[in-house]
Amino acid sequence: MMDNRQIMTRVEEILASMTLEEKAAQMVQVPYAFAGREESLRWAKMGAGSFLHVLGDDAREIQRAAIEQSRLGIPVIFGIDAIHGHGLNDHATIFPTQLAAACSWNTEVARIMGEVTAREVATDGLHWTFSPVLCLGRDTRWGRVNETFGEDPYLAGEMGAAIVRGYQGEDMSDDEHILACAKHYIGYGEAVGARDSCDTEMTYRKLREIFLPPFKKAVDAGVGSIMTAYGSIDGTPFTIDPVTMKDILRGELGFDGFVVTDWDNVNSLVRRQHVCETTEEACVLAANAGNDMIMTSTEFYQAVLSAVRDGQVKEETLDDAVRHILTVKLRMNLFEKPEKTGRPGCFGCEEHLQHAKDAADKSLVLLGNNGVLPLREAKKIAVIGPNADDVRAQYGDWTYFTHPKLNLEHEPVRPYVTVKEGMEAACAARGMTCAYHRGCSVLDGEYEDIAGAVETARDADAIVLVVGDVIAQVGEEKDRAVLELSGRQMALFDAMRALGVPLVTVLVASKPLAVGRAAAQADAFICAFNGGMFGGEAVAKAVFGEINPCGRLAISFPRASGQVPVYYNQLPGWHCQQGKGYCDLPEGPLYAFGEGMGYSAFAYSDLTFDRETLMAGVKVTNMGERTGTETVQVYFNDVVSSVLTPVKQLIAFKQVELAPGESAVVEFALSREDFSLINRKEERVTEPGGFELMIGHSSREQDLLKTSFRL
Ligand code: NOJ
Repeated sequence: MMDNRQIMTRVEEILASMTLEEKAAQMVQVPYAFAGREESLRWAKMGAGSFLHVLGDDAREIQRAAIEQSRLGIPVIFGIDAIHGHGLNDHATIFPTQLAAACSWNTEVARIMGEVTAREVATDGLHWTFSPVLCLGRDTRWGRVNETFGEDPYLAGEMGAAIVRGYQGEDMSDDEHILACAKHYIGYGEAVGARDSCDTEMTYRKLREIFLPPFKKAVDAGVGSIMTAYGSIDGTPFTIDPVTMKDILRGELGFDGFVVTDWDNVNSLVRRQHVCETTEEACVLAANAGNDMIMTSTEFYQAVLSAVRDGQVKEETLDDAVRHILTVKLRMNLFEKPEKTGRPGCFGCEEHLQHAKDAADKSLVLLGNNGVLPLREAKKIAVIGPNADDVRAQYGDWTYFTHPKLNLEHEPVRPYVTVKEGMEAACAARGMTCAYHRGCSVLDGEYEDIAGAVETARDADAIVLVVGDVIAQVGEEKDRAVLELSGRQMALFDAMRALGVPLVTVLVASKPLAVGRAAAQADAFICAFNGGMFGGEAVAKAVFGEINPCGRLAISFPRASGQVPVYYNQLPGWHCQQGKGYCDLPEGPLYAFGEGMGYSAFAYSDLTFDRETLMAGVKVTNMGERTGTETVQVYFNDVVSSVLTPVKQLIAFKQVELAPGESAVVEFALSREDFSLINRKEERVTEPGGFELMIGHSSREQDLLKTSFRL
């Protein structure tokens, strides 16, 4: 492998040999499925830098054309949305979605997800995943909340950095690691009204405080590419915003990889955002803003050539872009080895499937249990509900048979286990019977037989009711104004509740829905989100106590749609004083960030904090009868600050596994920067004064021990 100096020298040599046309082509990313094979081959021969959404042999053919038939033979870099597994390939291992995985609060889960995905992507001959999403899921009406690591900048940053390390390995140059892409830079999830791709009500100060930290952690972890966002800040589309693109990303974060636009961002400047009259004008702005690679808007090629010729874009601007792209290609060793070989035979191999199972188990969040779980005495179980046996709903977005724009005609490939199947197998192993009835559909008017479900469940000893959302309600352009359970799901819940049979509600959904009494009036409530291949099996294991659930919410649950956004790190104000909240609903969420229980309870005591060393510690004791894993969460509040600061902010967490009766002192080495804020001058500072440190089981007040101190 070349060292950095050698790479820089080589980049300059290649650059010096490139024509203007070849530089422009290197900046183009061609959408294979839209361009078609012939057109794609033509682009490859012209020296296009990248293609997206092309798999296996098609990619290999393109690569051969680029290397053998383009003048300079610069290898192409292939990008794919391998979002929670290499999901667009039908034999890949599918993990829980980012949101589900974030509920594990386990960075090793994220790292392994990245590593397995990278190996499978590389085995397809590809190099690059458009992952992770580092937007925050704060307004849960947004259709893409499932793709985020939840609502909190700290947790999202930790999980994001870990998955980047998993994808890229040491340096991306070996056969089994690929290039990661932190996206969408920046603030995409914060669109007004959660209207996908619309403007954000954002200031640079707020951007730095809440939305930048996960990207900073990804850059520090060495992420090699960044994708711009669709939105805008104060009237300037992010993709052409000089402050975020240049000053912050390159200047302050020191990012030295390449920037790719999102899908057709350049044309959006004309067609959707109306800040340019012509594509040519948009291309000038995009190039000058520092976009190195242009996704799908192939018009860029001609437009940028004429812009250089008539002086609107300097050739050095193209040089910079190509320099960034070639540097990454060289770091990945693509010139020596244009095709990654991965590990033949690894698609869905036993080792990978085991990791997907483990991730699903660790991601499950038990949110309510009056003692009904784990189930023991039952003879007959009824599994009811629209999402009990809907593998599409369980997988979530971005897989070969669930991404609406790419491929809905595919059939799901085994192995996978739905909740129904998991429960059937678990019941059979215990000599119990298991009856299933769908009851109703998630969407109105497709299917309803609540009476049939009542008949099935009437003589059961326990009911597992699985509700949620379906793919038609998830993803790009699928924002929801109403988060309550859709269709006749509440009627189905009420019919089940009326039977007086112990009732466990399970949520198989892309995000927190306003589940209301379907959770509150059930005997137990499990949040499974989109658990991937083995999401259903994980639920069955939790129901029967084969696993001791240890997931914690990475995102808060609203009581009703109108309460959104309900994230825990709110700024203080009148509305929420003295716990008054809304006049028709309490202030707090139904389930709070960090919440989750298992079959053992943990007691906290002996909070310590040393003002000199900033070491904090707390004693945690497993009060239950089973070994369990607790996630110890550390929050702080800046008591008086020059700008409003959140009522609490997560600054650290650690997991500890404890045997029954066992105690451990969990310690945290904190720093002054952990207690910092972004002041009005947009500087990160730790202001002297009073602070409150809180350590405990969740972000809820009653779950936290507190101590005050001054810095
Ligand atoms: C648009 C999406 O916003 C982005 O996340 C994705 O990576 C690209 N399309 C490519 O599919």
